[in-house]
Amino acid sequence: MARTENGKVALITGGGQGIGQAVAERLHADGFKVAIADLNFETASKVAEKLGGKNGGAIALHVNVSDRDSVFGAVDQAVAELGGFDVIINNAGIAPQSPLDEITVESIEKVLLHQL
Ligand SMILES: NC(=O)c1ccc[n+]([C@@H]2O[C@H](COP(=O)([O-])OP(=O)(O)OC[C@H]3O[C@@H](n4cnc5c(N)ncnc54)[C@H](O)[C@@H]3O)[C@@H](O)[C@H]2O)c1
Repeated sequence: MARTENGKVALITGGGQGIGQAVAERLHADGFKVAIADLNFETASKVAEKLGGKNGGAIALHVNVSDRDSVFGAVDQAVAELGGFDVIINNAGIAPQSPLDEITVESIEKVLLHQL
């Protein structure tokens, strides 16, 4: 089905891979302009390029969701570059897998506070 712009802008945190990438691709196919926001700018850029880049309604942004100002900055950039801000997908996160007796305070703080 051909993509038809719906006039809305979505910002997806952690959009550089995995679930965030899949959400970004689906929203883009549904007509959203998408801001692919990720700690890893390289993967975010690859996803944005795959979706046609700025002319195709997809940009990459660097964001660190553990830093409030960084998130506000990413939103401002999405507005400046894509002309609006309608939807945010708060997807970015980490979920380390480890046996119960190997979980550390540092690991819990990293997951909850998301400080890398
Ligand atoms: N995959 C699963 O089965 C599953 C299940 C339950 C919950 N989740 C959660 O869903 C989210 C996405 O899962 P996934 O499997 O796609 O993860 P993933 O590890 O494949 O992708 C996470 C993305 O988030 C980015 N990221 C990490 N820290 C960031 C930060 N501080 N700021 C901005 N971006 C950051 C990474 O660079 C990466 O691109 C995660 O929060 C994960 O914990 C995943």
